[in-house]
Amino acid sequence: MRLDRFIESKLAVSAQSVRELFLQRQVLLNGIAVSEGRGRISEFCRVEVAGRILQSREAVYIMLHKPQGCVSATKDAKNKTVIDLLDFPQKENLHLAGRLDFNTTGLLLLTNDGKWSRKITQPTHKIPKTYLVQTKEVITEDYVRVFAEGIYFGFEDLTTLPAELTILSPYSARLTIYEGRYHQVKRMFGFFNNEVVGLHRLSMGKIILDTNLAAGEYRLLTAEEIDSIK
Ligand code: URA
Repeated sequence: MRLDRFIESKLAVSAQSVRELFLQRQVLLNGIAVSEGRGRISEFCRVEVAGRILQSREAVYIMLHKPQGCVSATKDAKNKTVIDLLDFPQKENLHLAGRLDFNTTGLLLLTNDGKWSRKITQPTHKIPKTYLVQTKEVITEDYVRVFAEGIYFGFEDLTTLPAELTILSPYSARLTIYEGRYHQVKRMFGFFNNEVVGLHRLSMGKIILDTNLAAGEYRLLTAEEIDSIK
């Protein structure tokens, strides 16, 4: 939204009155006086007019090492949620940038910035997500070829984007996918009737799970990590 229109609607005053406020240097955008309001502001810009704060909402970006046995949701009637793990003011305003299953561990991103999280979750952005996978049956070289070609998912009527599989041992592999369909990794291994018995997300784009974080711990993202998605 334009800054001048935002002030008009917040203060319920005319466009002319708002122009005057700008001329009197009464409008501070992120702490700096601005002389005109045609520029656009986001929901996270701080806007102060004549000493009155009209908007001051900080964007929050968190990396959590999700443990097993908790739900990737903000509320759940039965189970502990990832939000319950946070000791953070206004944690109720956060949402998840890509879920993990109940027993999947690893990197989970939480934010109150919807524009940012959509870049991670929308398949059109093709953000790579890398997982460590442990399976019940042996993983063979066939998987590498089939995952690279894509697998047809009948429910969604689509073929998964080419994915990269590196076999680490007979029962474990590293997999990078470029979208985040429902239970995608389990369904890809399910194509070979191979059950996933352990799943851990290592990274999303350039954001890598901090090895200093034990399961259940979290930290704020650095500016560099945030910008790597923007
Ligand atoms: N794919 C899955 O099947 N489960 C997850 O938790 C994440 C990706």
